[in-house]
Amino acid sequence: MRILSGITSSGECHLGNYFGAIRQHISFQSQGEGIYFIADYHSMTSIRDAKERRRLVHEVALDYLACGLDPQATVLYRQSDLPEVCELSWILTTVTPMGLLERSHAYKDKIAHGLAAEHGLFAYPVLMAADILIYNSDVVPIGQDQKQHLEMTRDIAQRFNHAYGVEVFMLPEPHILEDVAVVPGTDGQKMSKSYDNTIRMFWPGKKLKKAVMGIVTDSTPVEDPKDTSQALFQLWSLFADEDDKQQMFAKAQAGGLGYGDVKKDLLVRILEHFGEMREKREALAQRPDDVEDILANGARRARELGAPVLAAARDAAGLGRG
Ligand code: ADP
Ligand code: TRP
Repeated sequence: MRILSGITSSGECHLGNYFGAIRQHISFQSQGEGIYFIADYHSMTSIRDAKERRRLVHEVALDYLACGLDPQATVLYRQSDLPEVCELSWILTTVTPMGLLERSHAYKDKIAHGLAAEHGLFAYPVLMAADILIYNSDVVPIGQDQKQHLEMTRDIAQRFNHAYGVEVFMLPEPHILEDVAVVPGTDGQKMSKSYDNTIRMFWPGKKLKKAVMGIVTDSTPVEDPKDTSQALFQLWSLFADEDDKQQMFAKAQAGGLGYGDVKKDLLVRILEHFGEMREKREALAQRPDDVEDILANGARRARELGAPVLAAARDAAGLGRG
């Protein structure tokens, strides 16, 4: 089974990315041939600074590796090391109806949030289809927010196969990572780098503490029962087992629990959960060339895996000499 997924390097990874994507990508790697990439072409729709783009790719690579991605078993590469994907994206663009892209929720949302209506943003799902189809991937683990993109990928693949009368592309299955509720940010909205409400697990201790202590809570006095649907309790629950949760929620409902104590406990739990990963990350960060080697090696393997499909698409479409 070939498993493919990617994460856009548009910011440093936070707890939402970890629980909603990275952790699950990593747990998938034992189930088949994993191919993971850092989507820096995709980051071009939001980042316009070359240095920052390179820096973020490196940070995301460190995050993945620290969190347990095994570069021996799993392919990890930088999307732009495989420019072939842009060729496939063009090929797919020619069979993609405007109406399909016009229905994209992600595009409409981003425009509504003030992003410029540029063609790259509009055509984003086609590049994403190329990312997936170039390996004839079987399974694509993604968050609920990417479900429509997967449906578009399947639609585009079918249109190409139908247009040229050849089954070049297999239809990938989404694996929706549904069991994880949306991780709230420090302000109670969805944690997102766009909202400046993130908690980054690998921040230095002081910064991490500041973020955790800054989680917004209501103004219920210590002695009163607490509303456990608040972001603080949801975040805390990510690091607790069922017994711990029952105890904490009982205490919260009984009254007498201070938010400050919950925050301190949350901080301890975050540091503990990510302790080993943090050490691994710090060690890796000292060896940037090793990380580059991993990405370069990943790109080589990805190129080998993608070449036959791209060749078949070119051939089916009559591109090149043949
Ligand atoms: P952001 O919202 O910070 O820009 P992305 O859109 O780049 O994050 O998300 C990358 C991956 O992380 C996606 O698969 C998404 O489902 C997951 N993810 C992001 N934020 C959260 C969150 N708050 N809760 C759960 N999953 C999240
Ligand atoms: N669009 C995805 C996101 O923002 C990242 C991504 C790009 C991706 N190409 C992909 C995910 C292909 C899975 C498969 O999270």
